Amino acid sequence: MTSGSPTTAEKLNADVPWDAFDPDEYIKRNYLEIQPVDRAILIRVRDHFSDHFAKHGGRGGSGIDVGAGPNLYPALAMLPWCGRITLLERAERNLTYLRGQLSGYDANWDQFWEVLKSGPRDRSAAYTGLGAEPRARFADVVQEPLPGSLFDLRGRKPAWDLGTMFFVAESITTSLEEFREGVGCFMNALKPGAPFAAAFMEHSEGYRVGAQEFPARDIDEREVRTALGPFAEADMKVACLDNPKQLIRHGYTGMILACGRRRKK
Ligand SMILES: C[S@@+](CC[C@H](N)C(=O)[O-])C[C@H]1O[C@@H](n2cnc3c(N)ncnc32)[C@H](O)[C@@H]1O
Repeated sequence: MTSGSPTTAEKLNADVPWDAFDPDEYIKRNYLEIQPVDRAILIRVRDHFSDHFAKHGGRGGSGIDVGAGPNLYPALAMLPWCGRITLLERAERNLTYLRGQLSGYDANWDQFWEVLKSGPRDRSAAYTGLGAEPRARFADVVQEPLPGSLFDLRGRKPAWDLGTMFFVAESITTSLEEFREGVGCFMNALKPGAPFAAAFMEHSEGYRVGAQEFPARDIDEREVRTALGPFAEADMKVACLDNPKQLIRHGYTGMILACGRRRKK
């Protein structure tokens, strides 16, 4: 996956017991009630996708959320734009959670859908256009979650027209090399010109889900630009967002959101 020998302090992706990731604990801490920072991210992602498809057309293709975990809001943000959405995930219990959401997702996700629906008309029309019950569309478009690793995307042909990756590349390893590799693998999965949104924890020291500690790579806005830069068109926007309710996800200073398009050449 990567070259070079890790220092003893490093925790590589393959060293982590991902099947100990507890989706219920994670949701309780992060997604039972929408946090202001997730609201701010969702608004920016909605606007980015709406503006992109208004300008370039091309609805109805395939979307991918990489390292989906027990978070449905990236998939909800992609819902109007895709005919098919792939949720790629490594951890068994998260895959079980995702499978259970396909035929009718839980009520906590309604708050996230409300944000997508409630913007200015030009940015929200595609979402409101799905009607009062987006669950039917979700069940139609979102595929059985795909078990696997982000790092396996490296060897595949770019196959997706739209992509999201939220709190993954920096939150699955302490290694800078693996972080960059993860970002590259995500971008490699996207077809030239594909719009994407990628969110990162800033200066994360790692995080706990229930009793289990998970590693993180301490990164900042500059590192996000460095990692994404070679793969993105020059008009990529990177925003740093504070979380006024700090410590919801402990040991970090804020969140970084990059919205852009996969570079054509
Ligand atoms: C911090 S969680 C983020 C989950 C979700 N995307 C979110 O926005 O809350 C990191 C996720 O990456 C998954 N993961 C870890 N290693 C992975 C890998 N090699 N490929 C794909 N997903 C992986 C974990 O199982 C977990 O669901």
